[in-house]
Amino acid sequence: MTDRFVAAIDQGTTSSRCIIFDGSSHILAVDQREHRQIFPRPGWVEHDAAQIWARVQEVVAGALGKAGLRPSDLAAVGITNQRETTVLWDRATGRPVHHALVWQDTRTEALCAELAGTEGRDRFADRTGLPLASYFSGPKIRWLLDHVPGVRERAERGELLFGTMDTWVIWNLTGGAVHVTDVTNASRTMLMDLRTLDWDDGILADFGIPRSLLPEIRSSAEVYGTGRGVLEGVPIAAALGDQQAALFGQTCFSVGDAKSTYGTGSFLLLNTGKEPVRSHHGLITTIGYQLGGDAPVYALEGSIANTGSLTQWLRDRIGLIGTAAEIETLALSVEDNGGLYLVPAFSGLFAPHWRPDARGVIVGLTGFAGKGHLARCVLEATAFQTRDVVDAMVLDSGVELKALKVDGGMTANNLLMQTIADMLDAPVTRPFVSETTCLGAAHAAGLVAGVWPDLDALRAEWRRAAEWTPRLDDRVRDRMLRKYRKAVELAKGWIDEDDLEVEGR
Ligand SMILES: Nc1ncnc2c1ncn2[C@@H]1O[C@H](COP(=O)(O)OP(=O)(O)OP(=O)(O)O)[C@@H](O)[C@H]1O
Ligand SMILES: [Mg+2]
Repeated sequence: MTDRFVAAIDQGTTSSRCIIFDGSSHILAVDQREHRQIFPRPGWVEHDAAQIWARVQEVVAGALGKAGLRPSDLAAVGITNQRETTVLWDRATGRPVHHALVWQDTRTEALCAELAGTEGRDRFADRTGLPLASYFSGPKIRWLLDHVPGVRERAERGELLFGTMDTWVIWNLTGGAVHVTDVTNASRTMLMDLRTLDWDDGILADFGIPRSLLPEIRSSAEVYGTGRGVLEGVPIAAALGDQQAALFGQTCFSVGDAKSTYGTGSFLLLNTGKEPVRSHHGLITTIGYQLGGDAPVYALEGSIANTGSLTQWLRDRIGLIGTAAEIETLALSVEDNGGLYLVPAFSGLFAPHWRPDARGVIVGLTGFAGKGHLARCVLEATAFQTRDVVDAMVLDSGVELKALKVDGGMTANNLLMQTIADMLDAPVTRPFVSETTCLGAAHAAGLVAGVWPDLDALRAEWRRAAEWTPRLDDRVRDRMLRKYRKAVELAKGWIDEDDLEVEGR
């Protein structure tokens, strides 16, 4: 028998990548390309979906080339993606009607406040698990319908399709034949009922979104269709939002298993099993995964909007470092943060605060503060935010965190991983394959294609590669957390009504 390979396409916020795995979860080849981040106004973030589709095709061809494989060597492909990012396109021409609105984009804040009305931000939380926030896709669809000329009429005539990036990639990979999304991605729209796993007609009416725009909701692991072009003949057999894919790739299959992924933002997910658990401490309820006809597995999630994006910000907007890795060198040039605390509320604050009116602050500045301290407080912000989310998870689940499984690009940063262990006062462990997002998508697709027999076979392949243990004095930790929490209070309420007008909303 020949080896059977599985490809994963990860359409991320900053880049698209394709990784090819063999049947023992070893990486054969990786190809990755960034796409443009478009910032038309403060708080607005867009992507060019046509450019993203071009990048996806390039990285698929690139990874196949590096591995020396043809599409016919692949048993299946799994898709994973940046979540919530919203694109509408013409079903006849495939052309997007507008740039995609990225999950970090805050332009729908006024709309969310209006939709909340007197019933409040949790108006739809029982059905969707989510608070009304600019983060999710539903308000973004509504914004496009309201603001792009002709779009509402075209949508009502049934000429347009909506998708998050999973849907956009699958539609294009199948030459426009298949318009689907998986339950994990659908659970981020605010339009799906978490229990029925169907679009909720009441919410659609409240948002003013025609059902004809929406893809069919399917499980996370089943054959949706067959590839054309770059993946000619390959079964497209899995789709999961990137964070859910990482949960799956970290083999968090049992109730109580948790992971935290450090990419553009950071996302801690806890498997809560067959029942959706409602958070009382600022977490959201989401679908973890659903394998074919099995019951869905639910998760509690702590979403942090800005972590790795801060490194990019220091590199691309501030120009303090030349590469992401240099942030660690710079941060290690000083002994501590020199009294600086940064709250990166660039898109407001997500979990556990959910304060859209917050904006970033740096406090504690004195003439002593230098660029090393700035690099240091940028990294520490990720550790403090992790601690806030873990505290919420402990309160919601009643289970103490014994250790945290981590993954994602920022786990290359030793100082950061040590700081997270210090702030949590718990060990942090990283698996051998830190590309768990791609691994999870490949595993889900490979289960469908029979490359792996069952979840136990996947569990057996998780191996620890690194561990950081806490070593900070309790008093120092407590003081740092106290200072950070004071800084968070300062970040809240920065945005006033007339700022929203200035930002064009
Ligand atoms: N050594 C480092 N120290 C700090 N941050 C880093 C380091 N290396 C990478 N990053 C940051 O991590 C992020 C990249 O991580 P990763 O590749 O997991 O993200 P990603 O999957 O591309 O994100 P997304 O899926 O959101 O596009 C970038 O934001 C980058 O700035
Ligand atoms: Mg990613």
